[in-house]
This record gives sequence, C-alpha cells and structure tokens, in this order.
Amino acid sequence: MSGGTEEPERYRTDTYGRSFADVYDEWYPTDDATRAAARRISRLADGHRVLELGVGTGRLALELADLGVTVVGLDPSTDMLDALRAKDPGGRVEAGPGDAADPGTWPEGPFAVVVAADNLLCNLHDAADQERCVAAAAAHLRPGGHLVVQAFVAAPLLGRERNLEVRSVDAGGVRLIATDVDPTTGAVAGAHVELVDGRPPRVRPWRVVPVAVEDLDRWCVGSGLTLVERHADWDGGEFGPAAAGHVSTYRRS
Ligand SMILES: C[S@@+](CC[C@H](N)C(=O)[O-])C[C@H]1O[C@@H](n2cnc3c(N)ncnc32)[C@H](O)[C@@H]1O
Repeated sequence: MSGGTEEPERYRTDTYGRSFADVYDEWYPTDDATRAAARRISRLADGHRVLELGVGTGRLALELADLGVTVVGLDPSTDMLDALRAKDPGGRVEAGPGDAADPGTWPEGPFAVVVAADNLLCNLHDAADQERCVAAAAAHLRPGGHLVVQAFVAAPLLGRERNLEVRSVDAGGVRLIATDVDPTTGAVAGAHVELVDGRPPRVRPWRVVPVAVEDLDRWCVGSGLTLVERHADWDGGEFGPAAAGHVSTYRRS
C-alpha cells in the first residue's frame, strides 16, 4: 500500500465538463454573439441537419433548435450532457457521448454543417487530434456542406509564462485563476481555484491548445475543404492581424 501523496487525476476529455458544468450557464450565459452564431449557422444549414462538436449544456444548440434547425450534438462530458437534458427534457437537441478527436464515436452523417465553436478545437489534446477532427468533419459533410470553426487567436509565444490572477476577493473568500503556458506547444494548463469560508476548496482544471489559422487552413485544404469566409466574430467583423479570435467557414467541394 502506498503511503505517499495521491497523484492528481490526469487531464481527460471530460475534465472540462467536470470542472464547469455546474456553473457554465451562469458564467457564460446565452448572449447576442450566441444568437448571431445561431442565425449564421441556420442560414448555412438551409433546412438540413447540423452537428455540433462539444455541444456542452446546449447554449448554441438550443438557440439553433429555436430557429427550427435539426441539431445533433456530441460531448465527452456526462456532466455537460446532463445539464443539457435538464434544460431540454423534450430532446429537441439529439445529444450523446462522443469525442471530437475520435470519429468512431461520432453520429452518422452526412450533415449540412459541422460546428466547432467556443474554442472546441483548442480543447483537443494536441495538433494531431485537431487535424484528425478536421478530417472527420470533412468526411461527415454532404457535398457543398460547411465546417464552421470559431476559436481564439493565440498571442505570440514569449517563453514559459506562469500567472496567478485574482478573479475576485471579498470578506467571504478569494477566487483565483492560475495558468501555465508550455513554451514549445503554446498549450495553456489552467485552474480556477475557489477558497471560500465554510466550503471545501474547489479546483476547476482546464487546458487549451491554440490553433494557428495557417495550420487550420492547411488541414482543411488537405481534407478537401475550401475557405469561403473568415471574420473576427459572429457578427461578420473584419478579420485582421489584431483580431483576438476568428470565425472561419469552409465548404466541402
Ligand atoms: C467551452 S464549452 C462549449 C459548449 C457549447 N458549445 C456552448 O455553446 O456553450 C466546450 C465543450 O467542449 C467539450 N469538449 C471537451 N473536450 C472535447 C472533446 N474531445 N470532444 C468533444 N467535446 C469536447 C466540453 O465538455 C465542453 O462541453
């Protein structure tokens, strides 16, 4: 029997959901950007089925369903999927377990649109998984179908960066965000830490791996997808070198 300190649990595909499912809708409520995303995707779907990778609590998927779009979603987190089902007892969104990096777990296509929003690609373990996901998305599109990717644009790597930010502090406790950037891959390991009087400490780990738009374009071209438009946001803002994020739409020829 080991008398040593227990190893922390390894970061898994369902770690993000375990960390945030209980607060996700409170911290990231449906907003104008969500509604603009739903309108844009609904236009592309043109009455056909949409697959959302990393459907989560259904923030975007339920907006799509409200517009009359048939949405299928996958997510590796049962916590997230349970939160979605609690909001969608009638099952308007057909959601189930799946890993965006493992096409064997995807629902059967073809789809008119595959959506990887909210930095979904950055949630995957590494560039190989991200490229596999792009290829699987292309293979699940009907001819003329679209892949829509929304993600942040990573800042240039300056070397190893560790930060501790105070998110809020009051007489009841403190909430911190710790981050550690890997200087070779740009992967960011982070944790939201809550130390609140009268409650056990809570740590919410997360991890993101940035995707350069040049890599994304190359993977898409390799999978038979052509870039049709790239904006800075869902409202169609102009994309340029200073953009913090991008919404990129590719078409299967
Ligand atoms: C930032 S949330 C976005 C949720 C949702 N798209 C929305 O509209 O709010 C990211 C989601 O991706 C999921 N996720 C993480 N790793 C994944 C993977 N390997 N495959 C599919 N989804 C994944 C998480 O469980 C989480 O639900």
